[in-house]
Amino acid sequence: MIPLLMASAVASAQNVSIFDPASPPAESIRSLSVLVLAITAFIFVVVEGILLYSIFRFRRGCPHPHPLSRGPSDETGAAAGEGTEARETEPPQVYGSKPIEIAWTAAPALIVFVLVLVTARTLWEVNVPPPQPREGDNTLFVTVVGRQWWWEYTYDHYNGRELGFTTANELHVPAGGDGVPRRVYLALKSADVCHSFWVPRLAGKTDLIPGRTNSMWFQTDRPGLYLGQCAEYCGTQHANMLIRVVAESPGDFESWLENERKVAQPATEDASVSAGRSAFLAQSCINCHRVRGTAAQGTYAPDLTHLMTRQTLASGMVPNTPENLQRWVADPQPIKPGCLMPAFGLGDRERDDIVRYLLTLR
Ligand code: CUA
Repeated sequence: MIPLLMASAVASAQNVSIFDPASPPAESIRSLSVLVLAITAFIFVVVEGILLYSIFRFRRGCPHPHPLSRGPSDETGAAAGEGTEARETEPPQVYGSKPIEIAWTAAPALIVFVLVLVTARTLWEVNVPPPQPREGDNTLFVTVVGRQWWWEYTYDHYNGRELGFTTANELHVPAGGDGVPRRVYLALKSADVCHSFWVPRLAGKTDLIPGRTNSMWFQTDRPGLYLGQCAEYCGTQHANMLIRVVAESPGDFESWLENERKVAQPATEDASVSAGRSAFLAQSCINCHRVRGTAAQGTYAPDLTHLMTRQTLASGMVPNTPENLQRWVADPQPIKPGCLMPAFGLGDRERDDIVRYLLTLR
């Protein structure tokens, strides 16, 4: 069953199997899950086995009716001489047996004790308090804020360097693979309701709770895309609060960092782009969105400074293509019903100019 699950998970491009871990906390959780599954499967087989054995071994042959199903006034069967055999073979009733009682108390107690020990060990491996950032630690520190219904990532430190930029929905992290472990520590907060950060192949679920900072860590040696999902019901679009973690080689990650740290490039000579930029800055877009290097300094919605470096829109729902961006700017509600960005009733010309401007945010 488990190898089957694993095989089907590996075959899928959208691998979110806890049985295919790519990070130490996820490996600890896989080992614990396999052990718990094995123990409970054994108990299941024993209990069901005894049940089936009893059903077949002690079943009463037909056509005798059950003696207890007859009322005291219903004596026709007995008078006719039927059912007497069934009454005689009612099994002996056992009240109390010390050895059996000791056995069925001690065995479950022992099993529970073993499960407590392995669970405690797993918690110990998974719950590591974040260290202080220092030079040469090859460690990335990111603050994650859960919002209805997207993820805000503020890059705090990498390898001791202070970063301090914010992006959204796609978390880029460095992969090891060159023999140097590169850990990622996330500080998890919420701006509204409870959310839960879950990327099954990297680590277990950790809740994001208003007024509290939780932490988690992971570390992978395999570059690639790791998919995840908000795992705590947080409102209408909970199911579309998707997570994408892009693990890159250290070199690729450094160049991504360098680009993300820059402010947006000044508008080009293109007339429609600068018209779009003016329209964007004149509209209420800037009350919520930020484009570093411009007057748009909103912090309520995703930071758009490098919007076009992201592969998806709407927290992983649709590919970030010019067509989807245009649909989104025109009216986000058909794409993500209930999301907190309304349609602004832009004219076609204005909308297209704004999209042209957004397409320059690389
Ligand atoms: Cu956020 Cu569910």
